[in-house]
Amino acid sequence: MEFHNREKELKRLMRIAEFEPNTIYFVFGPINSGKTALMQEFMRRLPEDFAVFYVNLRGKFIRDYEDFTRILFKFEDRGLEEIIKGIAKSSAKFLSMRGIPIPENLIDVVLVKRRTEDVFEFLVDFFTNVAKHKRPILILDELQVIKDIEIDGKLIYKLFNLLVHLTKELHLCHVFCITSDSLFVESVYEEAMLQGRCDYMLVDDFDYDTTVKFLKSHDFEEEEIELVWNHFGGKPMYLIRALENRDDLRGFCERMLRIRASEIRGMLKRLRELGDSIVVFGKEYEVRYENVIDALRMFKDAEVARAEDVDEVTKRYLIENNILFMNPIDGSIKPQSRLDLLAIRRVLSDIEREY
Ligand SMILES: Nc1ncnc2c1ncn2[C@@H]1O[C@H](COP(=O)(O)OP(=O)(O)OP(=O)(O)O)[C@@H](O)[C@H]1O
Ligand SMILES: [Mg+2]
Repeated sequence: MEFHNREKELKRLMRIAEFEPNTIYFVFGPINSGKTALMQEFMRRLPEDFAVFYVNLRGKFIRDYEDFTRILFKFEDRGLEEIIKGIAKSSAKFLSMRGIPIPENLIDVVLVKRRTEDVFEFLVDFFTNVAKHKRPILILDELQVIKDIEIDGKLIYKLFNLLVHLTKELHLCHVFCITSDSLFVESVYEEAMLQGRCDYMLVDDFDYDTTVKFLKSHDFEEEEIELVWNHFGGKPMYLIRALENRDDLRGFCERMLRIRASEIRGMLKRLRELGDSIVVFGKEYEVRYENVIDALRMFKDAEVARAEDVDEVTKRYLIENNILFMNPIDGSIKPQSRLDLLAIRRVLSDIEREY
């Protein structure tokens, strides 16, 4: 599938890359909005004097510090000097999709001694050396995966410290953290340690014009475009699925909506009959069915609401269940997609009919 548009976002990313590193960037947005695809296109477009280290934590089973370092680093059978030489002399841009190359003899420091200070010192040293030859960029995709890992305190805070050091203090390396977890972005946003040291970039679903252009470029007719937009909005993932299901587009749209509505109905049924609880800052709270229904009712007529109008437990429950997406920067909250919005409305009207 050819990459479509995102010119505004790419322009901003390329401009950031041109300047010296100053802040950590958090790239966030709803599920399947195209964050990873955008970063991959960005990497493709970077000029050859860049060295890009891309680490994707998606789908990796990360329970502890060791799992994390095994993904962050790629152990190599040569010394640091050789590794740096290799990066320096690559005439095209250096691109590592398998983590940061590190000499095998450092396994001991990294995995056995497990002193994060030593590991982070190595990283500063590594990027200092790379920066003598190329402009380093570090991209951490799905960073929220490690948000609960503890090693003498939360690993993520130590990592943030390092990232602040690499950007704001040493101006050594561009850092982009990608995530679709809006609660994680909220905690980052409220984190005193990061205040004034990071910036945000929202990658939302395509807007209407971009969606129309995308579907037109695949020869969709007006009527088909309206049908797809009305069901899926501009979520790239669903647009692609609509292309695949063109022969029975109406059937596909209805099937997707039925599936999503039945998932949401099932979640609400379990909550009503069995109850549920969530843990917030180490304390357990009961999720109240009535509150969840009230929160969903906000979307009966509106597409977006204010996050502050939903109580904290309900908000977290609906976000953790991938039904709502929150933008902590502007304080808005909305369904993860147009399909979720329609499914919510359908479920609510079923519930109202039952009474
Ligand atoms: N601009 C685009 N042009 C063409 N296809 C795209 C574009 N953006 C995303 N896609 C496609 O949509 C699908 C979802 O995109 P992607 O995986 O990048 O989303 P994401 O926001 O990273 O999702 P997640 O929240 O799960 O991490 C992929 O198949 C991707 O190739
Ligand atoms: Mg992704």
